[in-house]
This record gives sequence, C-alpha cells and structure tokens, in this order.
Amino acid sequence: MAKFQLKVNGKALNVDADPTTPVLWVLRDHLDLVGTKFGCGVGSCGACTIHLNGRALKSCQLPVSAVGTQEITTIEGLAAAGDHPVQKAWLELDVAQCGYCQTGQIMAAASLLKSKPKPTDEDIDNFMSGNICRCGTYTRIKAAIKKASETSN
Ligand code: FES
Ligand code: FES
Repeated sequence: MAKFQLKVNGKALNVDADPTTPVLWVLRDHLDLVGTKFGCGVGSCGACTIHLNGRALKSCQLPVSAVGTQEITTIEGLAAAGDHPVQKAWLELDVAQCGYCQTGQIMAAASLLKSKPKPTDEDIDNFMSGNICRCGTYTRIKAAIKKASETSN
C-alpha cells in the first residue's frame, strides 16, 4: 500500500492504495465516485472513461501511481450542475437506453468537443470508436454530439 494525493473534480483527495490499482477502482471503491463504470477492465469498451488533464482516458488502464499531479475529472465533476452542453444534449435527445455505457460516452464526447468544437461525422466516428454501446444508441450519440457542438465553445 502507498499514499497518494489525487486531484479529483477540483479537490485534493488522499488515498491509501496498492500502486498498481487502476484509477477506476480508486474512484469507485476508495472515493465512492461510482458514476465511472466497469465494463471490460481491459481497455476495450470505454465504460470507464474519465478525463486526465481534460483528455479522455480509460481509467481501467491507468494505475494510480501514474497519476501524480494530473487532474482527474469524472462524470460527477464534468459540470457542477450536470449541465455541460453534452449532458444537456443527451437529455434533450434521450440518448440513453440501459445507461451503462453512457458515462463513458459523455466523457469521451466532452473531450472530443474540447479538442474539436465542430467535429465532422468522421471525426465523431473515429473519436468515439473506443466506446461501445451494447444497446446500439450510436445514432443518438452522434446526433447529441452534433447538437452539443452547436452550443459548446
Ligand atoms: S472498463 Fe475500461 S475500457 Fe472497459
Ligand atoms: S445504453 Fe445500454 S450499453 Fe449503451
């Protein structure tokens, strides 16, 4: 075990964990931030997507010892009132079906729009290809990203 101080959603939080523990489990089991989901554990589904310094990253593939001073953002911290343009577009277009993959989808979409505010269909397909939805909500996801791109900067 080792002690880590992580910056999560703008707060400094102390964690005592095995250095190899994936950030996914530190978030869920140590910090009770359960909005980030476990899907595959091997980097293939995107359910565990968070932001590290504002960029989408699969938290199941990130050992806590590799975080250092980088800033972690989870779905709980994406927008204080849950009103990020992506979240608003998701609600307006009723994107979710079972909902399980949606945290990861939203975090990936927010990262895409940060780096590319007006993405093309191809940009969206490429960027979102690592986020799997077993319910097949891809058409609504794409439409919501386009809608959010009209309102985000
Ligand atoms: S749980 Fe991390 S990519 Fe599937
Ligand atoms: S909404 Fe069910 S897995 Fe995506």
